[in-house]
Amino acid sequence: MDEKKVMLSGIQPSGDLHLGNYLGPLRHWPEMIEEFDCYFFLADLHTITVRQDPAQLRRRVLTLLAQYIACGLDPERCTLFIQSHVPAHAQLGWVLDCYTMFGELSRMTQFKDKAAKHKDNINAGLFTYPALMAADILLYQPDFVPVGEDQKQHVEICRDIAERFNGIYGDVFKVPAPHIPKVGARIMSLNDPTSKMSKSNLEGCVILMDKPEDIMRKFKRAITDSDTERCVRYAPQEKPGVSNLVQIYATVTGKSFEEIEAEFDGKGYGAFKPAVGEAVAETLRPIREETERLLADKAYLENVYKTGAEKASYVANKTLRKVYKKVGFVPR
Ligand code: TRP
Repeated sequence: MDEKKVMLSGIQPSGDLHLGNYLGPLRHWPEMIEEFDCYFFLADLHTITVRQDPAQLRRRVLTLLAQYIACGLDPERCTLFIQSHVPAHAQLGWVLDCYTMFGELSRMTQFKDKAAKHKDNINAGLFTYPALMAADILLYQPDFVPVGEDQKQHVEICRDIAERFNGIYGDVFKVPAPHIPKVGARIMSLNDPTSKMSKSNLEGCVILMDKPEDIMRKFKRAITDSDTERCVRYAPQEKPGVSNLVQIYATVTGKSFEEIEAEFDGKGYGAFKPAVGEAVAETLRPIREETERLLADKAYLENVYKTGAEKASYVANKTLRKVYKKVGFVPR
């Protein structure tokens, strides 16, 4: 039997999951765990590069863990863990800091953006973040790392670091292929259809944990377009607001754009908006209920992350031992 290919992805627990995350990449993850040997972790070490409220960070990590399971990441079929539970990440991170150049880190666009945004806290961790991310990846020798466009540069520097290290010590790391996953739908803000749905604009953003009444309110207030035809039609250039709703409705119901246009022919936006709201509320209901059930079951969640950390540590420590030996540390 062929060995499954290995895939790894880290998730920043820096905010609540929203409809855009769900209808984009997240929905495809359950298919991934069938096909690949998958590692998913909550990147809490990364999160403290910007200040966090401790109680909130703890709650977010556990909520996200529950949400991912509720969205179909079955912990029996993939390795699901919390980054800080596997010390090898920080340990290899340090080693890789010493094989990552000041100049290449200075070119990272995310560093430049975040430094501009948090001028009062441009800390060393924010700067060396890509070396830690390279450690996250290289510990598991994955074949590929699915990331969004914004993280591509970090996967590229990871490849450079791996190649540099391998160049000195022989083949220690598998060099992972960059992989931009099936994006799924690109969901825009409900009250500003020219920008992506984001937590920074809450009224235009449906959080996975939103109650049906909140979802309905947000959809009823969704911006439609000021065109004269007032008909439901997918035309992202001319009608960005309505097209976004059509896209959302198509994604949650599985209907085609043509079917949707026919369904709402002659009905106008007043009937369409609540219909989209209802379809979204029904899609999210089981996820929210399952998340709430899991969050109430502390023992289960604890068992998931402990088991995950053990599985991950086993693989990560193998790579770390190899690296320590190569660089010349005395084995304990
Ligand atoms: N930096 C990623 C983000 O902001 C999260 C992340 C951390 C990650 N380590 C990773 C992603 C390793 C993929 C692989 O989204």
